[in-house]
Amino acid sequence: MQQILPRVLVVDDEANQRTALASMISNWGYETQCAADGEEALARIEEFKPSVIVTDLMMPRMDGPTLLRRLADIDGSPPAIMLTAFGNIETAIEMVHNLGAYWFLEKPLQPGALRVLLKRAIQHGRLEAENQRLGRQLSSQGVLGEMVGASAGMREAFLLINQVAPTSATVLITGESGTGKELAARAIHRLSPRASGPFLALNCAALPETLIESELFGSEKGAYTGAVERRSGCFELAGGGTLLLDEIGDMPLATQSKLLRVLEDRKVRRLGGSKEIEVDVRVLASTNADLHDAIAEGRFREDLFFRLNVFQVHLPPLRDRFDDLDPLCAAMLPEMNSRHGCSVGGISPAAFALLEAHQWPGNVRELRNALERAVILAGKGDIQPEHLPRFNAGGRDVTASPPPADGVQLAIGTTIDQAERALIDATVRHTEGNRTRAAAILGISIKTLFNKLKEYESGGRS
Ligand SMILES: Nc1ncnc2c1ncn2[C@@H]1O[C@H](COP(=O)(O)OP(=O)(O)OP(=O)(O)O)[C@@H](O)[C@H]1O
Ligand SMILES: [Mg+2]
Repeated sequence: MQQILPRVLVVDDEANQRTALASMISNWGYETQCAADGEEALARIEEFKPSVIVTDLMMPRMDGPTLLRRLADIDGSPPAIMLTAFGNIETAIEMVHNLGAYWFLEKPLQPGALRVLLKRAIQHGRLEAENQRLGRQLSSQGVLGEMVGASAGMREAFLLINQVAPTSATVLITGESGTGKELAARAIHRLSPRASGPFLALNCAALPETLIESELFGSEKGAYTGAVERRSGCFELAGGGTLLLDEIGDMPLATQSKLLRVLEDRKVRRLGGSKEIEVDVRVLASTNADLHDAIAEGRFREDLFFRLNVFQVHLPPLRDRFDDLDPLCAAMLPEMNSRHGCSVGGISPAAFALLEAHQWPGNVRELRNALERAVILAGKGDIQPEHLPRFNAGGRDVTASPPPADGVQLAIGTTIDQAERALIDATVRHTEGNRTRAAAILGISIKTLFNKLKEYESGGRS
């Protein structure tokens, strides 16, 4: 029987060192091959398919950091262990943090440490590969990460996400508000070779120019009024990972130019700083506006659009994919039941017909909110029409009242405190003593509810 050994690729420009290292590693029960620099290493990876790479930091032609950056763009690339010269720890940590190296070892090498690290790195690589495989498998069953979707439109989006995720391509995610753009961005990150790195999202709509730029690029102390200390920006913090620029259409023009430069040079400079910092970040952008309009009106740079729109994933509005209503509800109900201590079994046909008749201008977010409220109101059994918001023709929800049988009657002359107490008592009766649900219906925290009930028990205000 032929035994399949884990494979280690040793990369070092010093011929003696790499042969010595390779023979030591072979003795531990690995199959090894050598490469003299990053370029040769990349060429070998394809046919040798190493489980882990051990690479020197300084090499002619392609050095360690460049090799790491190139590895980040290869789907299923193996973890890399960096060998650094003594006293170079700071650079080494940067490699791990910003460029996704698995870990580093200082020279002269301690064989014992390398042996342990090899084992761990290989295990880590296997787990990541398995995670990605599972993620892909699920997507063919109508689930991708946290995204649910059975409609043709969502299946197409899942397919695109699966295709683009393993690359380092910039992706523009488009769709109306609440269609799941942020979820899609997270799914792309999770299915990418950067999955173990950070995922950061920055909303470009909410902030004025200076603040957006300091959030993105970081700032030195005193760079602007209010910059009281040095801060790293999102590009640094997302090193080795993914950065989502949310609502990119609202980014100020001046910031757009700076962003374009960063995307091209892969270097940032903090506000008020002079040092250029290398960054390794995959950028995703999302928008619910038509960027073509923004370009035509001079609010969005066309060159930035082309740079971001390398690959586009469009999420259709919910009203164009009613096939998703059922799987979405089925996925959301158990989670809401457990959050609110309810045991709702499903949705009655009459209630479901209402869901199908509504246009959902707020898309999946609106569905989620409507369902959450319905679960709290129903508590158990099936969701009925009266548990749903009254959807009016204009699409705005008019809040329905809870089933009148359990309501409260108040005569003029009742004080606010008495009314509050009557309402709280009635609601707790309606939920059969389930205080989590009662608090949710009343729109107050459980703590507040407890305090009020305690107050009533001790004969406080009435
Ligand atoms: N396909 C889906 N499956 C499950 N949940 C979803 C799906 N799409 C959206 N959601 C849920 O809907 C809500 C809104 O999603 P998300 O924040 O990703 O939307 P968005 O497109 O980024 O919206 P906005 O433009 O308003 O920022 C979230 O609670 C999310 O979990
Ligand atoms: Mg969003």
